[in-house]
Amino acid sequence: MLRVLLAAIGLAFSAVASATVPPPPPIALVSADMRPHQSLDGPWHWSVDPYRDGRAGFHGGPPGPSSQRYADIIQADVAAKDPTALFEFDMQRSPTVELPGAWIGHSPEMRYYNGLVWYQRTFDFTPQPGKRTFVRFGAVDYRADLYLNGKKLISHFGGFTPFAAEVTQFVRPGRNQITVGVDSERNSLDVPPVVTDWENYGGITRSVSLISVPETFIDDAWVRLTKDGRIAASVRLNGSQMAGFPVRLRIPSLGLTIAGTTDGDGRWTGNAPVTRALRRWSPESPTLYDVRFEAGIDVLADRVGFRTIEVRGEDILLNGKPIFLRGISMHEEELGENPVRRITPEAAKALLGTIKQGLHGNFVRLAHYPHSEVMTRAADELGLLVWSEIPVYWQVQWDNPGVLSSAEEMLRENIVRDRNRASIILWSVGNETPVSDARTAFMRALVKQVRELDDSRLVTAALLSARKGNVQTIDDPLAGGLDVMAVNTYNGWYTPDPLASLPELEWRSPVRKPLIFSEFGADAKAGYHDEAASPHKFSEEYQAEYYRQTLAMARKVPFLRGMSPWILKDFRSPRRQHPVFQQGWNRKGLISPTGQRKEAFGVLSKEYQALEAVGVGK
Ligand code: GCU
Repeated sequence: MLRVLLAAIGLAFSAVASATVPPPPPIALVSADMRPHQSLDGPWHWSVDPYRDGRAGFHGGPPGPSSQRYADIIQADVAAKDPTALFEFDMQRSPTVELPGAWIGHSPEMRYYNGLVWYQRTFDFTPQPGKRTFVRFGAVDYRADLYLNGKKLISHFGGFTPFAAEVTQFVRPGRNQITVGVDSERNSLDVPPVVTDWENYGGITRSVSLISVPETFIDDAWVRLTKDGRIAASVRLNGSQMAGFPVRLRIPSLGLTIAGTTDGDGRWTGNAPVTRALRRWSPESPTLYDVRFEAGIDVLADRVGFRTIEVRGEDILLNGKPIFLRGISMHEEELGENPVRRITPEAAKALLGTIKQGLHGNFVRLAHYPHSEVMTRAADELGLLVWSEIPVYWQVQWDNPGVLSSAEEMLRENIVRDRNRASIILWSVGNETPVSDARTAFMRALVKQVRELDDSRLVTAALLSARKGNVQTIDDPLAGGLDVMAVNTYNGWYTPDPLASLPELEWRSPVRKPLIFSEFGADAKAGYHDEAASPHKFSEEYQAEYYRQTLAMARKVPFLRGMSPWILKDFRSPRRQHPVFQQGWNRKGLISPTGQRKEAFGVLSKEYQALEAVGVGK
């Protein structure tokens, strides 16, 4: 009896103890792209599975051997030895395709495929004694079911943030087989929901790598310049030795070392004054420093810029000085007639260079979801300020706690991945979400999470506004809790306003904060010209005049501190099916899919050159 009682007390105690200790966060492998790794990019076999037989049998139970795409066998060998064997797939004899890249580019019939596709490849591996090994995906859109040598590792939901799985106990010397079931189909409980205004680029869209680290390694690390001019550093270790472990941050060119010991959860934070002259990061001078986080034999190197960003009244201050954000919005599509969302460093630089050199911009809104780390690193290198966003977009199920958890996890994954990127100044928690009490509570929870994860950046969201006659009022209840208000406005495109009347519009806000016009724009089919006095919509002339008049309106807004018009490049959207002007593309780009500049490109470039000429501020 006593033993039962003691066991019950022990059980209760451990239940209380476990209830108070939060579970460790998922593996982050921050700055993974800077770690030595074995790339798994390249040829993968692929096989469609529209009815998801590889995930469940015809009565809903586990799939039978004839459907298990992830089985650790070579189907043809098994079938050759056993005439009674039955497979209704064969991964190793399915076609191959170069990954990363969405399946929209695999073959013409994949243009509108929305469902489950299986990918498989083999790789040779030599285990390193004392090391742990992880497989990391830069992003898989939308759901990933990951298997190694026939064993299920993890499932990940969310199409735009990285995830990693430990494979130490599953990877074997010599040949290994990795299989991923990628399901692009979303439902109303997903983030984003089913209906968006961009292409559903299903697939393995970013790099895949094998990363081996010491048994106890640096899983998360963050370094930044604080508003009082100190360098602050945070580290979180993972491994059996993580508690009470010595850690260091070193910035050799600054002669700076901050050292300490982790706490019981493997965490450490420290800060120190900057002893030598620090060249702050800015678009004009995007200085990056080599930094090293050290924990025992684990060294994590990164290249980090140091700057401050803050709001004072209606001004945005970069390194203490007022700035005007001369920007443009972008989706994640490379230049070309058939983008597959493969963002290489060259593809990123081609797009961001057009903004910086072509438009004389200093800012880019990476809409409407976390873009590739290749893009945010390119922004660090080139010197463009970045608005980063999670796809809390339009009709989200605001009153569903599971949906909020999904959005919070996506936000956490985005911030943890990128908070060492000096270019990122704004975390956006959503876009054009219809106002309701449930929606505002949902968005406020996300704003709170941003502040908990990153006190060094600003939080915003793209809002809608109310119009009465010629007065446009930013009346969204969420605005008061943001650092920077942002509004999408399309008067003169989605409204019948004569373009010449746009400058008469007056903008008002009940709260005194900086405003960004996060979107305005008009469609134009590149090469369609209409010389009439009143050119028609979809002509380059209409788009150019729309920009002239909207910019005249913008100049009159006294608390405007930035713009990211919609959008740099035409982008694919299944909602845009005009057979003459759209053909499945949203044509609000200032450049065509292949980079052909439209007349409006020059209008915005001229505006930004004028703003640039007057120096910081407006
Ligand atoms: C909205 C939305 C964009 C969309 C744009 C448009 O503002 O935020 O995602 O593409 O309008 O209608 O072109």
